Amino acid sequence: MSRGNEMAPKKEGEDKNMGKVAIYPGSFDPITYGHLDIVERTLEIFDKVIVAIADNAEKRSLFSVEERLQMAKIIFKDTPNVIVDSFKGLLVDYVAKTNAKVIVRGLRATSDFEYEFHMASMNRSLNTHLDTLFMMTSKDYFFVSSRTIKEVAKLGGGIEGLVPDLVVRRLKEKFKLPFTKKKKIGWDD
Ligand code: PNS
Repeated sequence: MSRGNEMAPKKEGEDKNMGKVAIYPGSFDPITYGHLDIVERTLEIFDKVIVAIADNAEKRSLFSVEERLQMAKIIFKDTPNVIVDSFKGLLVDYVAKTNAKVIVRGLRATSDFEYEFHMASMNRSLNTHLDTLFMMTSKDYFFVSSRTIKEVAKLGGGIEGLVPDLVVRRLKEKFKLPFTKKKKIGWDD
């Protein structure tokens, strides 16, 4: 006789109220359309994505963790299946407090692989129940990184279309740049 779902043990990585949960950790300094693309595609596999912003005092960031949190919360305000949070310390310890068992990371190029492979292997050795899922970045964003976005923005280059408008504005505020839309240079110019 079937005992029904209510008697079934809760599976790892699933939350009774949340379904399948994935953690998408990173510095997000700042968040880019490349990140948003990964979140969007992760939501096609998982029911919930926790965007976990690392609060790492060792790493010099342009935006404080509060600023990064605020930007991400605004950006995902209309996406109910995305939770924005921050964490300090080891990622595996943070993941253990949630009900996720999968970490999602974007891979842009083979050059990302070595760092990601080390990180995933270390996390797996710290917690053997954890897996890292790598997602190839979409072709439109494979050249976009937070580091290059900051560099281009600081030097006054156009970053529109690569990061949300809110991030464009915040970068301009940081670098005290004028708020005029910079035209992209094309062959016809
Ligand atoms: O966007 P980033 O900077 O590539 O993200 C790296 C991040 C934050 C995911 C990674 O540095 C991390 O997990 N930091 C938390 C500390 C930790 O757990 N370190 C051990 C992993 S090797």
